[in-house]
Amino acid sequence: MSVTVIVGSQWGDEGKGKIVDILSERYDLVVRYQGGANAGHTVEIGDKKFILHLIPSGILRENVLCVIGNGVVIDPKALLDEISLLEGMGINIKGRLFISHNAHLIMPYHKLLDSLNESGSSKIGTTGRGIGPCYIDKYARKGIKIVDLLDKKVLEEKIKQNIAENNNLLKKVYNEKELDVNQIIKEYLEFDDAIDQYITDVPLYLNSAMEEGKSILLEGAQGALLDVDFGTYPYVTSSSPTSGGACTGSGIPPTKISSVIGIVKAYTTRVGLGPFPTELLDDDGEQLRKIGAEFGATTGRPRRCGWFDAFLLNYSKMINGIERVAITKLDVLSHFDNIKVCVGYEINGKRLKSFPTNENQMMQVTPIYESLPGWKSELSNLTSYDQLPSEAKDYLQFISQQSGFEISMISVGPKRDQTIEL
Ligand code: GDP
Ligand code: IMO
Ligand code: MG
Repeated sequence: MSVTVIVGSQWGDEGKGKIVDILSERYDLVVRYQGGANAGHTVEIGDKKFILHLIPSGILRENVLCVIGNGVVIDPKALLDEISLLEGMGINIKGRLFISHNAHLIMPYHKLLDSLNESGSSKIGTTGRGIGPCYIDKYARKGIKIVDLLDKKVLEEKIKQNIAENNNLLKKVYNEKELDVNQIIKEYLEFDDAIDQYITDVPLYLNSAMEEGKSILLEGAQGALLDVDFGTYPYVTSSSPTSGGACTGSGIPPTKISSVIGIVKAYTTRVGLGPFPTELLDDDGEQLRKIGAEFGATTGRPRRCGWFDAFLLNYSKMINGIERVAITKLDVLSHFDNIKVCVGYEINGKRLKSFPTNENQMMQVTPIYESLPGWKSELSNLTSYDQLPSEAKDYLQFISQQSGFEISMISVGPKRDQTIEL
């Protein structure tokens, strides 16, 4: 029995969807444990492209069961849209999807408050999916959970109470129009009818599955540097994408986790605001964005691009307990004559001993680079490590040495067969 956690090791969009799709062939269950529809996990199979936001990427393998854990915040409309889109593409969902009764619901006022906060002075560059405000209510113990959908009276009462509070806020603080309680109650009662069939006691379900010897893949969303505790706060998301979040967001105890695999892009990207020491604001950055098609899978925003940051990866490896990594998008680097790798940071000429997540320090750091020769040849049709040009092998060896991880998989294109296992 194996229980493996897949974590985004940088600022998200590392290619988790593609790697989870590949690995899920070897697992019985795939579980999402945090985040919400802010995630956009892309899987390309043949000429079909799937972008998953809430449903685990394992759904594309017929024999795999999929679970949404308590740590996820669920926008029921986004969920139902995703279910019907997938069903329209021939994917069976019924009987294969299980949703934790303890997951929290994203309400219309969460999305509204998310966009109002973003128009103020403390902009983060969020995805606007209501993620932060929903987690605020969860921790303020005011949230509405999936289980509340099961009791019409409870649901009505909770919605009324929350809307009364939020209408007050919308009117008095934001000078906005009040929300229509009855309309929202009606809408959520309809969601109830559609979602009831998926609601499950997930901790019990997963622990029973493990007792029966089933294997589980836990699919993180976002990335370590977007973690609310370990990321570049305040420019983070509001959940725990790091491996620890896999336990609290699913009900699988830490003693049952057998390994942690980090998904690592061969360079660095970030969407939204916040420090990014190796960001390239020149033509090289533009080339990475263009060749790597670096535009958000959820919002379509251009992603900020930069060189690989081994100092950051060292930190990510430490807080996640990463044992092995899958390197993605190595093919994108084929364009460059020389490729830089950040091996440390300095402030005023003084080299830092440890990775700073503090905003002020992060804004002041200067990356220390080493330059490696590029390979200037197509990688996307290669199927084994031996076929890689020697410069590409040297690059992989250098980043793995500098970051302190072992590479177990290399991705050279978005499709399933563009993957090299070591
Ligand atoms: P996720 O959020 O971590 O699942 O990543 P995204 O789906 O947001 O972004 C990764 C993008 O890169 C998607 O468009 C993938 O189809 C694509 N992709 C994944 N692996 C590779 C690769 O090895 N090479 C190239 N060129 N594209 C890849
Ligand atoms: P996947 O799972 C990249 C970023 C947003 C913003 C910050 C907070 O596809 O890797 P939020 O809406 O969560 O409150 O936004 O986090 N962000 C992501 N960046 N990939 C993601 O998900 C992201 N989800 C959120 O851009 O900077
Ligand atoms: Mg993504």
